[in-house]
Amino acid sequence: ALLHSQLSGDQVIVVSNREPYIHEHGENGVVVRRPASGLVTAVEPVMRACSGTWIAHGSGSADREVVDAQDRVAVPPGHDDYYLRRIWLSAEEERGYYFGFANEGLWPLCHVAHVRPIFRENDWETYKAVNQRFADAVVAEARSEDPVVLVQDYHFALLPAMVREKLPQATILTFWHIPWPNPESFGICPWRKELLQGLLGSTILGFHTRFHCRNFMETVDRYLEARIEQEHSTISFQDKETLVEAYPISIEWPAPATVAGWGPVVDCRQRVFARLGLAEDTCLAVGVDRFDYTKGILERLNAVERLLEKHPEWVGRFVFVQVAAPTRSSLEEYRSFQDRIERMSQRINERFGRPGYQPVHLLAQHHEPEQVNELFRAANICVVTSLHDGMNLVSKEFVAARDDEQGVLLLSRFAGAARELTEALIVNPYHVEETADALYQAATMPSAEQRERMASLRSTVHEFNVYRWAGHMLSDAARWRLRARVEARV
Ligand code: F6P
Repeated sequence: ALLHSQLSGDQVIVVSNREPYIHEHGENGVVVRRPASGLVTAVEPVMRACSGTWIAHGSGSADREVVDAQDRVAVPPGHDDYYLRRIWLSAEEERGYYFGFANEGLWPLCHVAHVRPIFRENDWETYKAVNQRFADAVVAEARSEDPVVLVQDYHFALLPAMVREKLPQATILTFWHIPWPNPESFGICPWRKELLQGLLGSTILGFHTRFHCRNFMETVDRYLEARIEQEHSTISFQDKETLVEAYPISIEWPAPATVAGWGPVVDCRQRVFARLGLAEDTCLAVGVDRFDYTKGILERLNAVERLLEKHPEWVGRFVFVQVAAPTRSSLEEYRSFQDRIERMSQRINERFGRPGYQPVHLLAQHHEPEQVNELFRAANICVVTSLHDGMNLVSKEFVAARDDEQGVLLLSRFAGAARELTEALIVNPYHVEETADALYQAATMPSAEQRERMASLRSTVHEFNVYRWAGHMLSDAARWRLRARVEARV
């Protein structure tokens, strides 16, 4: 209701690369899958509440079979709250724009994970062309001169200015889901100016933290002729003003019905333990990530190994389950990362395993949200050790899943979430000893302390949920529109 009142009947168009629902051929016909994506987790409930159109890249094997003549399908299946409009990219476009410029260039550029960004002229050209294709789709979908356009992420840095050119009255809210680095780091990108100019087509540009906002403003200050007003957090560039603000992203609260339907924690624990063949007194730690080098999976395996070395009494009783959804697998960096994780898990299992006991379970496949939540409810510890992360919604999902107020969250200080979830055990994942000690502290934490910490974490995620995130951005936008209208009259 709050979101509706902010929008007062305005049309909402979301643009993202990843689509919220993927149609695929299954054994018994077409199945619908939810991708492993923090962006989708956050934006989808907002779209269900606002309705409108979501424009995204159609990537499923059966995606084309379910759309109408305008490439649209009503979603979520069975509810039809909004339209998903699919854009079809050729293999070449996907290679240059998504795998190339976005994921070999901008992704490592913005994350400090010590992977060198690759910038190819061809990728850049394709990135520009694909941004233009999506911008044209936004313009084609617009039913008025001033729709509200929600642009998502680093795949579309150029799109805000492209849409602004055709729809000068549009309210363009761009959210950058990954960190923004300091000016020196960003400055190595050969097209730094073009990217900044593209983003400054936005009415509002959002980041997860103030720190990323400051980095962005300093980057603009360094490379463009723009007027920056720190006090109001605005940038004026070529007669156009952009508000740069921190909006910490979050998740739906209360958790969706599918999660609530899982029944008591003891039942979840029983099912998961039976499936994995775990002894009843096992301390179960879980990690849930995409198979991405920014997530610190190697570092957490090192910490698990160190824990078993330092505390041999846990050998046989401590099990770490890593769910890792394959991602961007056509890139060599990702394939070799997955190989290293597999080898390392095997090595730890050879070293500490024994008949009937395997300390590391690596589940390298996609899991639906319901399965992940069952695992969260079964676990004693959730381990999030990102080397760098804009926010990290897994940490918030774990907290949301624990209505029994038990379980310990171990969280990297380099994830945006660490600024809000201060009752977690905060660690530096580069420090093996510290992370192993935190695992030990988590494994031995008394139930009363778990309850105290978890209750506080839950009240934070409850209060600062995803509707608050969207509501905050939209109310800033509404104020902005009003001000622009008043100024136009003077
Ligand atoms: O973190 C950035 C991000 O775009 C998220 O918003 C999303 O969860 C993730 O990357 C997914 O990546 P991809 O769409 O490439 O699988």
